[in-house]
Amino acid sequence: MTTFPQGFVWGAATASYQIEGAAREDGRGPSIWDVFSHTPGKVADGHTGDVACDHYHRYREDVAIMEDLGLHAYRFSVSWPRVLPGGTFNAAGLDFYDRLVDELLARRISPVATLYHWDLPAELDWRDRDTAEKFAEYAEIVHHRLGDRVATWTTLNEPWVSAFVGYGSGRHAPGVTDPAAAFTAAHHLLRAHALGAQALRAAGADEISVTLNLTPMAGDPEVTTLIDGLANRLFLDPVLRGSYPDDVRAHIAKFTGLDLGDLPYEPIDVLGVNYYTIARLAADPAAPGHAEYPGSEGIAWLPPHGVPTEMGWEVIPSGLEDLLLRLSRDYPGTPLMITENGAAYDDAVKDGQVADTERIAYLDGHFRAALRAIEQGADLRGYLVWSLLDNFEWARGYHKRFGLVRVDYESLERLPKASAHWYREVIARNGLD
Ligand code: NOJ
Repeated sequence: MTTFPQGFVWGAATASYQIEGAAREDGRGPSIWDVFSHTPGKVADGHTGDVACDHYHRYREDVAIMEDLGLHAYRFSVSWPRVLPGGTFNAAGLDFYDRLVDELLARRISPVATLYHWDLPAELDWRDRDTAEKFAEYAEIVHHRLGDRVATWTTLNEPWVSAFVGYGSGRHAPGVTDPAAAFTAAHHLLRAHALGAQALRAAGADEISVTLNLTPMAGDPEVTTLIDGLANRLFLDPVLRGSYPDDVRAHIAKFTGLDLGDLPYEPIDVLGVNYYTIARLAADPAAPGHAEYPGSEGIAWLPPHGVPTEMGWEVIPSGLEDLLLRLSRDYPGTPLMITENGAAYDDAVKDGQVADTERIAYLDGHFRAALRAIEQGADLRGYLVWSLLDNFEWARGYHKRFGLVRVDYESLERLPKASAHWYREVIARNGLD
């Protein structure tokens, strides 16, 4: 038996556009993802978040499932266009989160609120500098309503994806393909984080965080340093040290004349880490580069080793251990929380059950890796699995299932998978066999 530290927080995560549905209810305005998913050719099979898991109406049932699993914490996101459709305050949009938070607390589950998980109000754009100020105002409004009951506040989820997938490759909303726009969006997202964190601090928020997707790089330092800079240090340094790394700053200057000194700073209380896989890189003069890493010509992304998940991502738990130790070494003093980790597999329902042994193996391997990092000194406080429910996997639509709980998108019925039952045991024992 391997045991986690006492008080270790176990939970699961979701995001508003991926699960809520009710896209036009109670005054919600459109987000960039409504526009994008309704644009032909952008999302697999034309899937949209219009109904999703219908969590907006079924949240009580979903919270009951969380209670049954014994979750200590639940990470959800607040939909900005519910709260401020078209820039105007809509109390009815906040009412939903009020009900959700009360339901969680009644079942002794700690709410972890993310303020921005990619569903930007459709009238806004991260290329505009003042979107950051607007985000800080929105953060204050949400905190004003929920701050008496929500202790942990996350400003942004995966700003790298918002900037480089939203504005670099255009695989995500708003679908822009322009390197300068991607760097501009990244800078404005970092401003939004800092201004939002300042607003939350001033309002008396208990615990402030940001969630970053962090990708360890395997390969020759000559190629990994640049990509590590663009994927990881571009966000880690401003958030944890208050300024850009010099090499990243010089790289960005090749694409835009942005004033990168123009970055406010507010220390955070905990860093949210999303980890799924690593990247394998090699120098290759013929490589065209990657649209999500502007200026990466001559660098090739190599195929995954072993059997990947349904997303095509390599399964490599040691990457998580290395990442947690690297964060402890390079950015000491900030507690860590895994805010997402999990896997999509092609689950099948047989005799009313889902025997998702691959997902169990994936999670088991990563839990063990986290424990090894803790034993070596990483200050890891908790682990939130992605995801509670199968849900709208962005450009891949509903085809990729990450849930501990299966969702039948016809009947909207929930069916806890074998991994959910297994996770319940892990949480009850606070450890693994
Ligand atoms: C990261 C994102 O935060 C989440 O929305 C997404 O579904 C998962 N990774 C899986 O791709």
